[in-house]
Amino acid sequence: MAIPKIIIAIDGYSSCGKSTVAKEVAARLGYNYIDSGAMYRAITLYFLRNNVDIKDGDEILQALKDIHLSFEYNDATHQSEIHLNDENVEHQIREMIVAEKVSEVAAIKEVRGFATAQQKRLGKKKGIVMDGRDIGTTVFPDAELKIFMTADPEVRVKRRFEELYATNPSITLDEVMHNLQLRDYIDSSREESPLRQASDAIVLDNSSLSKEEQLEKVLGWVKERASQLAES
Ligand code: CDP
Repeated sequence: MAIPKIIIAIDGYSSCGKSTVAKEVAARLGYNYIDSGAMYRAITLYFLRNNVDIKDGDEILQALKDIHLSFEYNDATHQSEIHLNDENVEHQIREMIVAEKVSEVAAIKEVRGFATAQQKRLGKKKGIVMDGRDIGTTVFPDAELKIFMTADPEVRVKRRFEELYATNPSITLDEVMHNLQLRDYIDSSREESPLRQASDAIVLDNSSLSKEEQLEKVLGWVKERASQLAES
């Protein structure tokens, strides 16, 4: 059955594998994949590089005026990668220095307004998979398919540690664990669009699922949704 162009929103805690499944689902369906977290990370990188005082509303607004974000397809990696003012920052934004600040920056109302306006525009034509914290609740409350991902904390820490260790062998498990705990806490307790499971989201706990198993599950839900939409 042909899959119509719908919006797939994937939300959940830090490092539970949202981007892995989102990228694979997008590739299988010929959809665009948008990593909304990359946008908050790129804004944070800009703030760090330019010493923007995050307690100063005027400075924040001025800085946001100077930020241009775009996703460009990289033929070598076969991925769409984030550009900050035309510089590819896909790798820099994954470093710990950004991870340590990003949740504080992402809690700022003006920053969220700036990022969510662009995210909504990117979803206008549908045929998109977007992952983040507030995609099913705030960015696309009418998304045709919403998934809330979760995994055991130890599994999430181990996965993120292995990812970071590949480029930074001095990183410790403790450091990664504290960062994930802190980010989950800030993301869930902030005032603006906190991390929440949308009431109509399907929960995907992938603690003991292989990548293939989780992909099959999600593709099954996409097909189910598509046939419901075709009947309605
Ligand atoms: O590290 P992980 O891949 O789990 O996180 P990410 O998706 O790269 O997001 C980094 C941070 O951006 C999160 O910890 C949130 O503080 C923020 N974020 C957000 O507030 N809203 C989103 N839709 C996506 C990310």
